[in-house]
Amino acid sequence: MADLPAQIEELWARAAQLGPDDSDAMAVVTEAIDLLDRGAARVAEIDPGSGTVVVHRWLKAAILLLFRLRSMSVVEAGPFEYVDKLPLKTGYEAAGVRVVPGASARWGSFLDRGVILMPSYVNIGAFVGADTMVDTWATVGSCAQIGARVHLSGGVGIGGVLEPPNAAPVMVGDDAMIGSRSMVTQGARVGEGAVLGEGVILNSGVPVIDADTGEELSRGMVPPWSVAVSASRRRQYPGGEFFLPCVLVIKRLEPGERHDKAQLEAALRDHHGTT
Ligand SMILES: CC(C)(COP(=O)(O)OP(=O)(O)OC[C@H]1O[C@@H](n2cnc3c(N)ncnc32)[C@H](O)[C@@H]1OP(=O)(O)O)[C@@H](O)C(=O)NCCC(=O)NCCS
Repeated sequence: MADLPAQIEELWARAAQLGPDDSDAMAVVTEAIDLLDRGAARVAEIDPGSGTVVVHRWLKAAILLLFRLRSMSVVEAGPFEYVDKLPLKTGYEAAGVRVVPGASARWGSFLDRGVILMPSYVNIGAFVGADTMVDTWATVGSCAQIGARVHLSGGVGIGGVLEPPNAAPVMVGDDAMIGSRSMVTQGARVGEGAVLGEGVILNSGVPVIDADTGEELSRGMVPPWSVAVSASRRRQYPGGEFFLPCVLVIKRLEPGERHDKAQLEAALRDHHGTT
């Protein structure tokens, strides 16, 4: 279909008038979501030149349009019943993806070869790179971009971002490891190979501080090949002294080095074995 982004933008401009009967609009939107589903397009990526996050707004608009265009339908699986507007992803075996019962991913998310979904959730527009483990009760929010060979530990919450359409999603680099129950939201970025301890709260406003120098390295960006844990910083307010969360970089790794507590176990990832 010619100039899909322009067609989506045109539909977005008159989104309020669209509804479930608009089959022409649905055909256009379906084409865009299929691109996401196959990994042929990504909602956001890092510009290799500048290192900044480029958001493809039209793809987020396509996702939002999908919610307008689809009606609710009932889906049953054994004794379980669901009611939703969006279908689930399919074709895992051919895609080389392992999906443990209790896990679900929506159509329009992309799971690259070797991904393992323990009972977890991956929302529309999310991209999950090859051989990444999404562990039990982890959630990958809409449009979040997760690299290859990442470990999202149990209960990790990766925030989603559909509104406003130009907001940047969370980006997690290749080979990163996010400790259990950490929350990474609001366009925060975790660099390649970084290791986050358990319970890290990272959003785009949380200071990331170097433990060696005391320097504030960034707000919401954990540097590549670093080890960072949850900490708190003293803040003075009119009402008194309080401690707000920060993220403390306690170690630096060599590029390509995997922390010994973040080693991957091949047997867990081998699609021919069992876990
Ligand atoms: C973050 C991590 C790599 C740190 O391990 P390490 O490099 O060996 O460092 P240490 O254990 O020596 O900890 C360094 C310091 O950080 C502190 N620390 C460790 N984990 C912490 C956490 N989650 N939050 C806050 N502080 C933490 C330690 O108490 C220690 O403090 P000290 O210097 O006063 O002794 C490791 O704790 C880890 O892998 N955590 C994630 C585990 C996880 O979620 N696994 C997934 C299972 S599904």
